[in-house]
Amino acid sequence: MPQFATPETVVPFRWTGKTLEVLDQRLLPGEERWNICDGADAVYEAIASMQVRGAPAIGIAAAYGVVLAAREAVGKADWKEIITTAMRHLRESRPTAVNLFWALDRMSAALGPELRAEAALEALEEEAQQIHSEDHDACVRMGALGCDLIAEQGAGPFSVLTHCNTGALATGGHGTALGVIRTLSERRQLREVFVDETRPWLQGSRLTAWELAREGIPHRLNADSAAATLLASGEVSWVVVGADRIAANGDVANKIGTLPLAVLARHYGVGFMVVAPSSTVDMQTASGADIAIEEREAAELCYAGERRVAPEDTRVFNPVFDVTPANLIDAIVTDRGVIRSPSRETMKAFRGDA
Ligand code: MRU
Repeated sequence: MPQFATPETVVPFRWTGKTLEVLDQRLLPGEERWNICDGADAVYEAIASMQVRGAPAIGIAAAYGVVLAAREAVGKADWKEIITTAMRHLRESRPTAVNLFWALDRMSAALGPELRAEAALEALEEEAQQIHSEDHDACVRMGALGCDLIAEQGAGPFSVLTHCNTGALATGGHGTALGVIRTLSERRQLREVFVDETRPWLQGSRLTAWELAREGIPHRLNADSAAATLLASGEVSWVVVGADRIAANGDVANKIGTLPLAVLARHYGVGFMVVAPSSTVDMQTASGADIAIEEREAAELCYAGERRVAPEDTRVFNPVFDVTPANLIDAIVTDRGVIRSPSRETMKAFRGDA
């Protein structure tokens, strides 16, 4: 089975041909537990409960979930209905990352008018693996393009600030924003990465710091609220983040806390770069205002681990993504090239629709 990441990087899941083994990201960095998904429902659960998270990884996992549904369906009269029901269910696992819907649309197209369950299974497995390997390759390309953009400021070394986790754990390997940082480090142009802890789920402290530590990439963890002080200090050259959905006008939905970073970066004259594969670009969504923003449970804010930190019955506002308007973004780096000063026009030109 293909394993795309280099030996020193982590992977979010392993496809065995019969099951999808998922590294339970809820337990990191304390415990590395692999949960075995042997059906589409288990994959749905893994995505919905955030055992696997990060836009590209969610899409890839869902694609393997469809393969598992097809495995279960072989030999049954209503095999096609079983697969399409699983696809519909997987679409409901999380609302914001468009990669989920993009991957399921590809799986649906791969199923096509197939008349035999066995042939369908083969075509679906091939498509899921293709989606997986394409994402890895896209990340490697974006890593190089993002680094070239940073290098326009000189030879470095540069310090950057990142938010959430956009690494190998969130993708088919290498990472998006973290892929740029990884490549910068490989080119010896990285001084240090500042890692926003990324409240409330702590993707920064629990996952990004863990990935960077495993690879010996110099980093320092900071409270999200320390970002203003950090950017004001002039130490950071670029803020580099990922995306869950990029609208047709260049607005970007990403982990909650991204928008304040973009405002700060503009205020202090620091570059703001979004790194995402073309599977994250959603030309059907006109602007950020049309993006469904997931809200998650109050417990994420009311508890620190097992300990309750808010009074009983506290009402909570917990959107887990925000929308950064295109005019605050200096560049969107994709596997197909860099969009500078994103806008409806530059997005269209990029897609060749102009
Ligand atoms: O809620 P999560 O952890 O799935 O959110 C992840 C993010 O917001 C990432 O920045 C985004 O998906 C890009 S991952 C390459």
